[in-house]
Amino acid sequence: MNLIKRSAIALCALAMVFAGCSDDNDDNQITLGNKEGILLVTFGSSFPEPQKTFEKIDQAAKKQFSGKTIKWGFTSDIIINKLRKGNGEGSLKGKIIDNDTPQEALEIMVKDGYSKFEVQSLHVIPGEEFDELEEAIKAFKEKYEGVKVKVGRPLLDSDADIKAVAKIIAAKFAAEIKDGPVLFMGHGTPHKADAQYLKLQNELQKINTKFFVGTVEGIGFDANKTSIDGILAELDQLSPKATKVTITPLMSIAGDHANNDMNGNTGEAKPEDQSWKERLEAKGYTVNTVMKGLGDYDEINNIWMNHLEDAE
Ligand code: CO
Repeated sequence: MNLIKRSAIALCALAMVFAGCSDDNDDNQITLGNKEGILLVTFGSSFPEPQKTFEKIDQAAKKQFSGKTIKWGFTSDIIINKLRKGNGEGSLKGKIIDNDTPQEALEIMVKDGYSKFEVQSLHVIPGEEFDELEEAIKAFKEKYEGVKVKVGRPLLDSDADIKAVAKIIAAKFAAEIKDGPVLFMGHGTPHKADAQYLKLQNELQKINTKFFVGTVEGIGFDANKTSIDGILAELDQLSPKATKVTITPLMSIAGDHANNDMNGNTGEAKPEDQSWKERLEAKGYTVNTVMKGLGDYDEINNIWMNHLEDAE
């Protein structure tokens, strides 16, 4: 043992006399239990409808992994803070979600005797949030030596996933696509995983060329093709001209972006500040909105749950 380490321990012992040593050291002395649990991880939402979607996903997990404990972690600090202040309608606090971050949820579980974890990312693409989740898990494993954590990949991970999702959502909108184009609104990201949206659009267009995938915050792996401007330009070229357009979120839930950026009545003058609905209406289309998140579809939840089954 070197001198620095020795002095650190001595200091710590001294500090304990007054105020107790740091929590970190106490945590490390936890004797691991042998319980197994599942953690579902999503961005979170303070809107009421998405809470029902979360419950649906929770039920899908309980069905597939019956008997196992299932907990939730929200990755958005803004949402968590809002929920903790009691600002969130239909909050699930105390029902299925305790308003914890993934890290907090894992720590609570480890102290409660869990040492084997299966974590499922309910994200759509393997982007920034998924990278952050993997980082958090790495830190968790370093902090609690001996814990086993498997991680299930997001929805649009492999090319096979993209094909499967295209097939499912095309079938869900079989009626709407007969009436006119169907536009899916994905989130989008500057991360390289933004490419998944374009791949999905390509798969959907193999089924019907009037399916489009656009994003709100994608800066563009191929921005023209998955931007609302690019899609509006493509709609202009359809012949015969479409009269009715369906819009729907390509996100786990129909939350903030779906209600505002997709379907909002912003009243803004500049097109770039308007919702998709307003932009389409300004072009003379009748807009049909389907306010459902991906987690409202059993077949989509099955893919997430199968990813959890395959978690490594
Ligand atoms: Co956003």
